[in-house]
Amino acid sequence: MTTTTDTTQPLVHAVNVTKAFHGNEVLKGIDMDVRKGEVVCLLGPSGSGKTTFLRCINQLETIDGGRIWVDGDLMGFDDRGGTLHHLTDRQVAAQRRDIGMVFQRFNLFPHMTAIQNVMEAPIQVKGGRKSQVKERALELLGSVGLADKCQAYPAQLSGGQQQRVAIARALAMEPKLMLFDEPTSALDPELVGEVLRVMRDLAKNGMTMIVVTHEMGFAREVADRVVFMDGGVVVEQGPPSEVIDNPQHQRTKTFLSRMRQEEQH
Ligand SMILES: Nc1ncnc2c1ncn2[C@@H]1O[C@H](COP(=O)(O)OP(=O)(O)O)[C@@H](O)[C@H]1O
Ligand SMILES: [Mg+2]
Repeated sequence: MTTTTDTTQPLVHAVNVTKAFHGNEVLKGIDMDVRKGEVVCLLGPSGSGKTTFLRCINQLETIDGGRIWVDGDLMGFDDRGGTLHHLTDRQVAAQRRDIGMVFQRFNLFPHMTAIQNVMEAPIQVKGGRKSQVKERALELLGSVGLADKCQAYPAQLSGGQQQRVAIARALAMEPKLMLFDEPTSALDPELVGEVLRVMRDLAKNGMTMIVVTHEMGFAREVADRVVFMDGGVVVEQGPPSEVIDNPQHQRTKTFLSRMRQEEQH
């Protein structure tokens, strides 16, 4: 599992991932494979470990046990004959560059315009030529429907526009994988659609995505697979038509009926 020549290997291969905070085990052995180009929606009640799992994939958290490979690379460690050695900060940073993450809160740099936000990482990290980076940033802002907002500061943009800038910013690093952590949860309802539309386009264009969301319509329409987590374990998974419309486990049924009640309010 160390070469990238095997085209059948999943882009994300997580095996028995565990993570505890102060003795509180939050991930209790998560196994998950995500194929290249696949869109996986991660559902589950608050506190089930969804955010923690995304943060472990992106190495914002160090896992306690198990292993995570992304595109054949073992995240965070060097496997020398079965013994794991921590990678250096520099090596970890290089691995993280291949993974884009979009959070619930947009986290844009407030003192930079939209285009400066999108250009920042490629210029800092890749040392790209400024004219090229700018051209790509314009293209990306265009692709999220914000060609006319390049010079706007975050405070001048709606939440939906800011989140679209945040997506363009993540894409500027040409990631292999995009992680979304409830990207529409902080938005006013009328702004949710414009962000989901951008995500739907990304999926259509073949991006591999793991999306934590409560948007059942999006999950049903865009996800290749839905994974339901509760209490730090994967309870069930499958195509949306099975997991959302015909869940097998009581915990999934309870969660989904609660979601439906909330949607009606
Ligand atoms: N940095 C942290 N320190 C201590 N506990 C944490 C930390 N991050 C998350 N937790 C705990 O881990 C559990 C899972 O949290 P989280 O991954 O955020 O769940 P979800 O995203 O599914 O709501 C929660 O009980 C939360 O309080
Ligand atoms: Mg969360």
